[in-house]
Amino acid sequence: MNVVILAAGMGKRMQSALPKVLHPLAGKPLLSHVIDTARTLAPGKLCVIYGHGGAAVPDMVARLNSGAHAPIVTALQEPQLGTGHAVMQALPQLDDSVPTLILYGDVPLTSAESLKRLVAAAGNGKLAILTVEQANPFGLGRIVREDGQIRSIVEEKDATPAQRQIREINSGIMVAPTAHLKKWLAALSNHNAQGEYYLTDIVAQAVADGVPVVSAQPSAEWEVAGVNSKVQLAELERRHQLNIANALLEQGVHLLDPARIDVRGELICGRDVSIDVGCIFEGRVELADGVTVGAHSVLVNARIAAGATIKPFCHIEEAVVGAASVIGPYARLRPGTELAEDVHIGNFVEIKNSQIAAHSKANHLAYVGDATVGSRVNIGAGTITCNYDGANKFRTVIEDDCFIGSDSQLIAPVTVGKGATLGAGTTLSKDAPPGKLTISRGKQITIESWRRPVKAKKA
Ligand code: UD1
Ligand code: CA
Repeated sequence: MNVVILAAGMGKRMQSALPKVLHPLAGKPLLSHVIDTARTLAPGKLCVIYGHGGAAVPDMVARLNSGAHAPIVTALQEPQLGTGHAVMQALPQLDDSVPTLILYGDVPLTSAESLKRLVAAAGNGKLAILTVEQANPFGLGRIVREDGQIRSIVEEKDATPAQRQIREINSGIMVAPTAHLKKWLAALSNHNAQGEYYLTDIVAQAVADGVPVVSAQPSAEWEVAGVNSKVQLAELERRHQLNIANALLEQGVHLLDPARIDVRGELICGRDVSIDVGCIFEGRVELADGVTVGAHSVLVNARIAAGATIKPFCHIEEAVVGAASVIGPYARLRPGTELAEDVHIGNFVEIKNSQIAAHSKANHLAYVGDATVGSRVNIGAGTITCNYDGANKFRTVIEDDCFIGSDSQLIAPVTVGKGATLGAGTTLSKDAPPGKLTISRGKQITIESWRRPVKAKKA
């Protein structure tokens, strides 16, 4: 099969410099959704017709081209003279011996199942159109039938008042026999209300040529909804998120409110996972059995092991959290964080590029960066690893069973030996030996003769 994706429209109503098909839905460009769905049908040829935005669309397509799939080709449509004219730009790319499926870069949520039904309806010699009955068909092409058979498609602006009463509309998505398609497109004219070359005019030509015209219907109306404005983009985003939420619920994930979750990538959940409201998941996130994610947390490319608890308002990015660990509230785990089992990271603690072994704790107000921390270590409130001298970064090593007193600074590179204790307020600039108390702090004194100053009396 050949697939042609039309994506040359300007998208004026988006009020944006970004070409319409590059606007993100669930964190991914609209056009990428269409390409991903098209690829599930394993097309031999896949051609994207673009127009506005310079090289932005072909550049995005080129990034998708590395991989196991057949390469996607792009063709520029300039100027844009209508949907029929757009498909013409792809013709040199198409294999005549297989049918051609036409999709739209701004219609992101069509399911592969619906497309497969349409392709099956078309077989090898029919023209098949994906149609839906709409309560309000205004502005869309109407399917004109006689004795139940499709005779033509008429655009709103060209329709008679009687045709405007028709509620079955053209989604735009169709499958055509390719050799016929080439002939039909070559015969299009633009003598219509909009002065455009209408793809839809191939239907009347198919009827005239005796080629059967059939239809298939999507499982839901939103599958053929297009994006022309930010309002429509927001509506489809919610629809898509609700679909994802429903799929998670079906798998047994406990969502406290399926209307308040955003998955912008792949969220893989084990059994008995619970997710509170307002959480955002980006990239690939894995939540193992029994994980709880508190309200308003953001997880990006993260792996959370079984039984871990993420309390509210955490930001976790490119990090691994070990089994039964407790994170937050208000914790930030930055890229390269690897926590082993039963690690506790509390409020206002930031961890970056650090490994923390089992049963260690940093419960309040700390920065741990470029550090290797052993097991059963306690990092006191206000501890900072000074990993950066303004030019280079250095590592801090804290061995097993250490106790780091509150408000200590560890000036890397530095090692705290196994079982060592640092007194509160220590500025550690040399290694601390194992098993000993190391402290750097001015001696505390009390001045017996001191009196608090009093205000001078006015004369
Ligand atoms: C088209 C159909 C109409 C259908 C409707 C569904 C035609 C003539 N009409 O309407 O029957 O109900 O879609 O939404 O086909 N595009 C290009 N190049 C162009 C023109 C359009 O690439 O020169 C792309 C647009 O980017 C868009 C799609 O084709 O993705 C549809 O164009 P649009 O103008 O929105 O649809 P209509 O022509 O109004
Ligand atoms: Ca148009």
